[in-house]
Amino acid sequence: MATERTLSIIKPDATKRNLTGKINAKFEDAGLRIIAQKRIHLTKEQAGKFYEVHASRPFYDELCEFMASGPVVVQVLEGEGAIGKNREVMGATNPADAAPGTIRAEFAESVGENSVHGSDAPETAAEEIAYYFSGLELVG
Ligand code: CMP
Repeated sequence: MATERTLSIIKPDATKRNLTGKINAKFEDAGLRIIAQKRIHLTKEQAGKFYEVHASRPFYDELCEFMASGPVVVQVLEGEGAIGKNREVMGATNPADAAPGTIRAEFAESVGENSVHGSDAPETAAEEIAYYFSGLELVG
């Protein structure tokens, strides 16, 4: 399988509970390398632009408010099949459906406050990485 890069976000519910290290350990234990990482505080507008694809969903406003409610850690994960592997490590969007041992099963509080985001396909991964990082910041 090819080496891929994917965009990951550790969300405000997780940074608030000091879980960045525990979540990063899950990624590294799965063989994903953190090749870029920074802690930032998004504005609601910046969160809204990132999640524009969900603009017509009923939860969009709540999602943008939440993503701007505290610091997030944005990161780029690299590895073989990194996009799918990260989605496995994260678990299902709704923590009630997430497999045991996954990040969302262990740490997420609800479908909205679900601790992590990960890109869902190669095209979105490239777009999402470019939203937060310049090429110079990716150190593989
Ligand atoms: P994420 O992987 O970041 O992509 C979109 C996010 O929308 C998703 O994780 C959830 O946190 C959020 N989301 C999805 N469904 C709902 C919902 N029913 N209510 C609130 N937030 C939701």
